[in-house]
Amino acid sequence: MTAVWKETATLTLEAAPFAIRAERASDIAAREALLDASFGEGRHARTCQRLRDGRAPAEGLAFSAVHEGRVVGTVRLWHVSAGGIPALVLGPLAVDASCRKLGVGAALMNHALAAAKARGHGAVILRGDAAYYSRFGFSPEKTGELALPGPFERDRLLAVELRDGALNEAWGMIVATGMKARRARVAGKARKLVVQAA
Ligand SMILES: CC(C)(COP(=O)(O)OP(=O)(O)OC[C@H]1O[C@@H](n2cnc3c(N)ncnc32)[C@H](O)[C@@H]1OP(=O)(O)O)[C@@H](O)C(=O)NCCC(=O)NCCS
Repeated sequence: MTAVWKETATLTLEAAPFAIRAERASDIAAREALLDASFGEGRHARTCQRLRDGRAPAEGLAFSAVHEGRVVGTVRLWHVSAGGIPALVLGPLAVDASCRKLGVGAALMNHALAAAKARGHGAVILRGDAAYYSRFGFSPEKTGELALPGPFERDRLLAVELRDGALNEAWGMIVATGMKARRARVAGKARKLVVQAA
């Protein structure tokens, strides 16, 4: 995994440039449309959504893939307690259907995991297909004692440790611990005002 996290990474895939960069407020409408198209309207009922409801993503860990000014991919990470152990949950990951199989998903994943590691996080958990996520180091090895707040398939609850042994003592329910979305917005505005005043 990349040890150094760069603010923006530019990829050239089949002569088309893609950039992975921090998500911006102006990306939100496009991101939501992309998630609707990728997961359908029922996406809000998915179990992992319970870990995101009303929460803000972890600081600095929401990314967009952009192609010619258009958002074509998204991934975010969220603070959770994994049976008492601080961790991140990753998701949703989605790439626009017109841009799949070009490595955009892998670029988002590698960028997000490197960023999480650079920020000192110890482990990332997700619910997804091992056939895709194993290439990034995810496996069910450390999630056997963990549960999600809703239905889930045991073999699709996956994790990767960014720090060896980070999930050794993790057992019990995974619960959201991220900042409430409204408080995060206020904190963000306050930070902006401080920067402007400086
Ligand atoms: C999964 C997804 C993000 C991958 O994005 P992408 O940009 O196409 O990914 P990459 O280009 O890095 O990798 C593509 C490869 O992964 C494979 N792949 C994609 N989804 C897969 C899955 N669920 N299981 C196994 N392999 C998968 C593709 O077949 C392709 O294989 P190839 O390289 O042998 O052709 C994208 O297909 C998507 O948005 N799907 C709909 C939403 C979704 O399912 N998100 C994941 C939630 S678990």
